[in-house]
Amino acid sequence: MGCDLEAIEPRSPAFVADYFTAEERNLVARAPAARQNQVVTLLWSAKESALKALGCGLRLDTRSVIAAPADFPQTGGEGWGEVSVKHVDGRAFCGWWRATHDLVRTVIADPPPCQLVALQG
Ligand SMILES: CC(C)(COP(=O)(O)OP(=O)(O)OC[C@H]1O[C@@H](n2cnc3c(N)ncnc32)[C@H](O)[C@@H]1OP(=O)(O)O)[C@@H](O)C(=O)NCCC(=O)NCCS
Repeated sequence: MGCDLEAIEPRSPAFVADYFTAEERNLVARAPAARQNQVVTLLWSAKESALKALGCGLRLDTRSVIAAPADFPQTGGEGWGEVSVKHVDGRAFCGWWRATHDLVRTVIADPPPCQLVALQG
């Protein structure tokens, strides 16, 4: 499994062009302008989670993993949403993401994780 936490902040078109796959660039292009930063951050965080799950980190080409939120373009509610990440060799990770307080969290695993259970604080 892999997890990641990223601040939602502007990232340049060059960042998206250099590090995202064609599928991911298409998702970013289709996102409403007000949600662009969140969608870019979600995709990047899911990719980082997968690169950690693969045990390689940024030694791998970031375009070797393709992230896809399940509910796009409705992406972005308060709760947890589903996200999947596929590696070019065919391995697939499933998991969850959430945006709160200008942060995106992602957690993914292979085999797919069980249902989320809220812990009582
Ligand atoms: C994995 C990686 C992308 C995370 O970078 P980051 O966003 O700056 O850091 P994060 O806080 O999100 O994650 C750090 C955690 O990732 C995990 N991690 C680091 N390298 C990892 C790897 N190769 N595989 C799996 N997990 C890794 C560790 O748990 C680490 O926490 P720790 O230092 O407390 O043990 C990055 O550390 C990396 O690619 N490392 C391996 C390659 C490398 O060192 N390249 C040189 C820099 S490009």
